[in-house]
Amino acid sequence: MKTKKSKRKDKFYIEFSTADRLGICLFRYQLYPKEKFLAVNPALTKILRYDSEKEIHDLTVRSLFKEAKEAGNFLRILKNEKIVRFHEAKFKTKDKKDVWVAITAYLRESDNSRKHLYIEGMLEDITRHKELEEKFTFEKELFQNLLDNLPDAVYFKDDKNRLVRVNKFYARGFKMKPEDIIGKTDFHFFPEDQAQKMFDDDTHILKTGNPIIGKIERTLLPNKTYNCVTTTKIPVRNKNGDVIGTMGITRDITVYDQLERNRLDMVMSSLKVLDRVLEIRDPYTFGHTRRVSIIAEKIAQEMGWDENKILSLKMSAELHDIGKILIPLEILNKPGKLSDLEIKMIQEHVKKCYDMLKTHDFPYPMPEAIYQHHERLDGKGYPRGLSGDSVIPEARILAISDVLEAMTFHRPYRAALGLKKAVQELKDNSGIKYDHNIVNLALKIINENNFQPFWMKENAAY
Ligand SMILES: [Fe+2]
Ligand SMILES: [Fe+2]
Repeated sequence: MKTKKSKRKDKFYIEFSTADRLGICLFRYQLYPKEKFLAVNPALTKILRYDSEKEIHDLTVRSLFKEAKEAGNFLRILKNEKIVRFHEAKFKTKDKKDVWVAITAYLRESDNSRKHLYIEGMLEDITRHKELEEKFTFEKELFQNLLDNLPDAVYFKDDKNRLVRVNKFYARGFKMKPEDIIGKTDFHFFPEDQAQKMFDDDTHILKTGNPIIGKIERTLLPNKTYNCVTTTKIPVRNKNGDVIGTMGITRDITVYDQLERNRLDMVMSSLKVLDRVLEIRDPYTFGHTRRVSIIAEKIAQEMGWDENKILSLKMSAELHDIGKILIPLEILNKPGKLSDLEIKMIQEHVKKCYDMLKTHDFPYPMPEAIYQHHERLDGKGYPRGLSGDSVIPEARILAISDVLEAMTFHRPYRAALGLKKAVQELKDNSGIKYDHNIVNLALKIINENNFQPFWMKENAAY
């Protein structure tokens, strides 16, 4: 049989002073017949910024709530449920400041009559917690607002490159709801070769943690048109710093791309005017630079160069012989064999062109590519007799393109030698005069075009 003492051991009492130290506010309140605080601990006085417990004794519990409606709500729940747990409410301090509290209380009736009602309970100051929660909610809503209203496609992918979140703009592009896209990969939306490139980029970021900034891509849309986009992808990390996914933002720049293309077309047209001047002086070279440009572009594409680098190569090709404008007509158009001096004078077209271009700034080595287009890897070219690594890749491509075109087109002093001989020239001198890898690529392209000089077909477009 349990003693009275042992029964007491089962109960746990918390002293007001202990509660104070823990920052827990305790109170006992008479709700009926007359509302009044019977007891409060100093912690409650402190959070409500009163000077003494007595000041609170003179108040009603309703008056502590900031809004009368909130007080009514609290008391209604308590009367119905007899107990409230962590009921959040806004109280006001003595100096009219807001303080958030969480109230846990129960309604006690007096033991022998129903005439007395008491509320006994505790409350905690949760202002800091609520501020953080409000800040978090604000930032969450801000982020969601940003995502939903951004005129760019934003997406998050997991470590298997599956979409885990996309914004409305992204989903609209595929005429879907954002939630219907979750779990899918790029292979669901794009042609396989494009999706594979995107997959490879994402995998690269997952493996290295390195972002891809401002990559310009053309993507095929569901309506079968292409758009131009710039994409930035960054790694998403967990709190330990491990890469757990990727986040990307893609902006449609088709309009700017078209403007840029229009500008480039104007520049290219201006270059063609220069070519035209050369052709008037030297009719036998009609279309030469255009055809060299076509071959060079194909080779550079095969080498995987980016668009701007290819464009600079094409412009170099368009300009590569423009120095011939300064060569006397009687030498330029002379049929038959040229003297050594005349050959030397024609060879000067390279230096003359370089001198015209060298004072201008180009983001790519256009003047140098033109300067070197008659150099050969064995050092037997001109004008400087450069060899090996001194010959830049652009010049190596131009050299091969120039030879291919020149040998397959007639000249005043000889008939066209034909593609077969041109190919033989490249094969015989591959790795000697000409870059071995570039020769192989040129031969591959010729092969893919059924051994036809594809650069001839484009004459009409010139
Ligand atoms: Fe030339
Ligand atoms: Fe040329």
